[in-house]
Amino acid sequence: MMGSPDPSTSEFVRRLVHERSAIVIDASKDYLVQSRLAPVARDAGLGGVDGLVEHLRRQPASPLRDVVVDAMTTNETSFFRDAAQWEALATHVLPELIERRRAQRTLTLWSAACSSGQEPYSIAMLMADRFPRVVAEWNVRIVASDLSAEMLGRAAAGRYSQLEVNRGLPAPYLVRYFRQVSGQWEVRDEVRQLVEFRALNLVEPWPGLPPVDVLCMRNVLIYFDAMTKRRVLSRVHDVLRPDGHLMLGTAESTLYSDERFRRVEFGRATTYQRRTA
Ligand SMILES: C[S@@+](CC[C@H](N)C(=O)[O-])C[C@H]1O[C@@H](n2cnc3c(N)ncnc32)[C@H](O)[C@@H]1O
Repeated sequence: MMGSPDPSTSEFVRRLVHERSAIVIDASKDYLVQSRLAPVARDAGLGGVDGLVEHLRRQPASPLRDVVVDAMTTNETSFFRDAAQWEALATHVLPELIERRRAQRTLTLWSAACSSGQEPYSIAMLMADRFPRVVAEWNVRIVASDLSAEMLGRAAAGRYSQLEVNRGLPAPYLVRYFRQVSGQWEVRDEVRQLVEFRALNLVEPWPGLPPVDVLCMRNVLIYFDAMTKRRVLSRVHDVLRPDGHLMLGTAESTLYSDERFRRVEFGRATTYQRRTA
């Protein structure tokens, strides 16, 4: 059986994760500190989680700091997660935006906590399948960002297990947009080159982002405290085009009665638009 870390160890980890990522880990989840960090401590030869934290106290700039934050974040994702939202994107949101952008021929989509890449590749496949002429002839940018270097590495590699492609990916998309490489499924270049990956911490500055038409910020704000959520949503308000759409995770939809955004309903799916121009 795994032992519990010293209470001051858990407190240190909770504070470090909050400082770096704004993620709030409840004290009742101390068991996660043990289960997620024991392998990190073992790999680093630091004899247990207390030893790992002792190392970080002595060497605050240690590269293990980011490894610890990474290990404590939840990266759960899947292709076309929450089908109703994708249906709304394909049949309402994107056709309408494309109509409105005919003059500029520019479209920017941002997956703002992309984890291992299933979300931005879902966007790219959807665009390639449903709007091939827009993809071929317009300036379409699909930006994918995350805090975690490890997740970004996985996302950029674009390789998925059978289990991962079984979750949510329609069979015709698997056939058309993936190829098999050493027992894994690799996203084909035509899709991969549509996505630009970058490291971006949502609670730090967001440099160099063009105005955004569709912003997927799904299943990340739930981990932040109320004040951080509000601050991040202010910046969303700044980067989102006046007629652009923000998509949150379905569990988050009812959480946000933020007066700066209005809810737009498409059947079972909800998006958010700025109230003011
Ligand atoms: C549960 S996953 C969500 C993935 C995808 N958006 C989805 O809905 O399927 C949450 C992601 O948020 C990232 N994350 C956590 N805190 C972050 C922060 N402060 N800035 C950017 N990304 C963050 C994590 O690394 C993780 O990959």
